[in-house]
Amino acid sequence: MLNAINFIKSNDDQISQVATQQHKELSEMIIAHKALRGGALFSFGENLKKRPLNKEELATFFGTIWAFFKEVPGGIIVLAARITADWMKYSMWDGTSVAARVLFASVDEYGLHQHHKHILPTHHELFRDLISHLGLHPPDLLDNKYIEPAGDLMGQATFRYYQTENLGEAIGFHLASEITSSHEFQYFLEGFQKFPAEYNLKDEDDPVLSFFQVHCEVEPLHVLTGKEIALSYLCRYPWMFEDMKRGATVFMDRFEQMFVSINQAIFAKDHGLKSA
Ligand SMILES: [Fe+2]
Ligand SMILES: [Fe+2]
Repeated sequence: MLNAINFIKSNDDQISQVATQQHKELSEMIIAHKALRGGALFSFGENLKKRPLNKEELATFFGTIWAFFKEVPGGIIVLAARITADWMKYSMWDGTSVAARVLFASVDEYGLHQHHKHILPTHHELFRDLISHLGLHPPDLLDNKYIEPAGDLMGQATFRYYQTENLGEAIGFHLASEITSSHEFQYFLEGFQKFPAEYNLKDEDDPVLSFFQVHCEVEPLHVLTGKEIALSYLCRYPWMFEDMKRGATVFMDRFEQMFVSINQAIFAKDHGLKSA
């Protein structure tokens, strides 16, 4: 039996080289997707910097992304459990070590990264604190009038891919989620920092923006652990590459649609366009 983590680190192994190449292609495919490259997320980020959002628009933005974000922490935990069980069948002593690469993202989601001191607010709590600060009433965001249908579809896909779709697709979906996160929160943070008075911020480092700030800090590391989990499987099963591409593509297409919809719902009127 191979030791998964040492195995993926041995650069001169032929299987490892194939896996590394596959992972590179996968990442490039995600980064080149039009959702990221000058596409929906980019235009939304640019619009966010042009003017502050009013109450209704804030509710649409946060209501729609919440339909997606609410599914993330539970999904990651389930995926880690599925990977533990799957790897233990193959190489009993490595199962937890491989799954730790996915579970690592949960440590942040659940506010456990300073566990030797105390439990910090979870990402969901930081989200709730931010929207409350902006004058929104959290339960209102569950009202369908604030949720673009594309946000709901993104949330449903997140639940399904993490929890029930085959492992290759789930890992591809997860990788795309980590890579997009490393971009999207930067746009959100910059957009809100631009209007401290309108958003009632002390300054651009106001802790109420922690929900955005912490993601900007942790996501590069999540992208790295996402790479390790993908490599561990690609070394074991090179054919999983196709499943991973499928999962990543579903994520990227839904993600793009979600930002096209949010952008239209909030900013179409600024450009004299009719809202869809
Ligand atoms: Fe998060
Ligand atoms: Fe992440």
